[in-house]
Amino acid sequence: MENKEDQNLLQEEEQVVNPWEVKAKDGGKIDYDKLIDKFGCQRLDQSLADRVQRLTSRPPHIFLRRGVFFAHRDFNEILDAYERGDKFYLYTGRGPSSEALHLGHLIPFMFTKYLQDAFKVPLVIQLTDDEKFLWKDLSIEESQRLARENAKDIIACGFDISKTFIFSDFDYVGGAFYKNMVKVARCVTYNKVVGIFGFTGEDHIGKVSFPPVQAVPSFPSSFPHLFPGKDDLRCLIPCAIDQDPYFRMTRDVAPRLGYQKPALIESLFFPALQGETGKMSASDKNSAIYVTDSFKEIETKVMSYAFSGGQDSKELHSKYGANLEVDISIKYLNFFLEDDAELEHIKKEYGAGRMFTGQVKNRLVEVLNEVVERHRRARAAVTDEMVDAFMAVRPLPNMFD
Ligand code: TRP
Repeated sequence: MENKEDQNLLQEEEQVVNPWEVKAKDGGKIDYDKLIDKFGCQRLDQSLADRVQRLTSRPPHIFLRRGVFFAHRDFNEILDAYERGDKFYLYTGRGPSSEALHLGHLIPFMFTKYLQDAFKVPLVIQLTDDEKFLWKDLSIEESQRLARENAKDIIACGFDISKTFIFSDFDYVGGAFYKNMVKVARCVTYNKVVGIFGFTGEDHIGKVSFPPVQAVPSFPSSFPHLFPGKDDLRCLIPCAIDQDPYFRMTRDVAPRLGYQKPALIESLFFPALQGETGKMSASDKNSAIYVTDSFKEIETKVMSYAFSGGQDSKELHSKYGANLEVDISIKYLNFFLEDDAELEHIKKEYGAGRMFTGQVKNRLVEVLNEVVERHRRARAAVTDEMVDAFMAVRPLPNMFD
């Protein structure tokens, strides 16, 4: 089944979603239902969120409650196994292409931190400095520098050093990891990789050969210092849904290598300020809120650029109310305003035209500033020694405690 969906990816021209491009159909919004169908993943419904709550004895994360993580592959199997007493490990990553992260970049890491705490499991974080060297106009040295800088932002999300291994591909690839890479590579034909990723004859072979690098952290044997003799340990990957093609490929080859398929839990994109046609992009400064933005910058960006679903005049707004479906401030509050009752209240009043865009935006500025401020403080406390400690190749004896 996974093969058929890969073919469809090429024929479908209206909406583009792959690891390098996220674009809705002209002027429209990303159609997530269509994506689920096309990729062949499953919708994450309320019953799974309830199950997480039961198994972990803690309230589900806001991103789970609100459907920010909305799709999955075999997450139910991970929970079945967990219920029987079998643990798993988490794997996520980041391509270090920019110095400053924006809010969209933080989402998978905030959620992964919650999963690590709730399930008490180890985590590996891949920094694909090689990927960014291959795709962007960056030197190897610059990609490596960005990887370390980004590692500080990642550590600032609060990961537990006794359960977390962060690695840069340039430093870590080799040994058992490399053996798994070539095993994967031998299972994937050129036609297959073209079908999944859309490479063309003009693309350099560095791109064609990269996917195994992102695939193999899904296999515990790639980390002999962490999981010796635990080849059956299952892996759960939290990521944005644009990374799905890598793991479709991985899941396809895993059984042929005698490995478990990784499970996935996948998020929506964090929309650009201008609207939900794409994801927040680090290269368009006005589309994004950075974790380094000052209160003033956040305020200016939200006030000037956040797409409003409000009506054009006060009279019309009072009469018809705001269109919440397209309103970016409401979307952002859905990601970051923790208080369910307050969010419901704002949606009701704004939707009925009793609250105006300016008021909603004021509240959004406060909420975002709080997130950014908290991150800024945590990041300032991360030292180079801490980065070295997280990135040291070492056993983690208490990783399941
Ligand atoms: N390719 C991802 C990026 O460009 C980085 C990445 C590597 C990743 N491994 C991952 C993301 C696993 C999610 C899960 O950001």
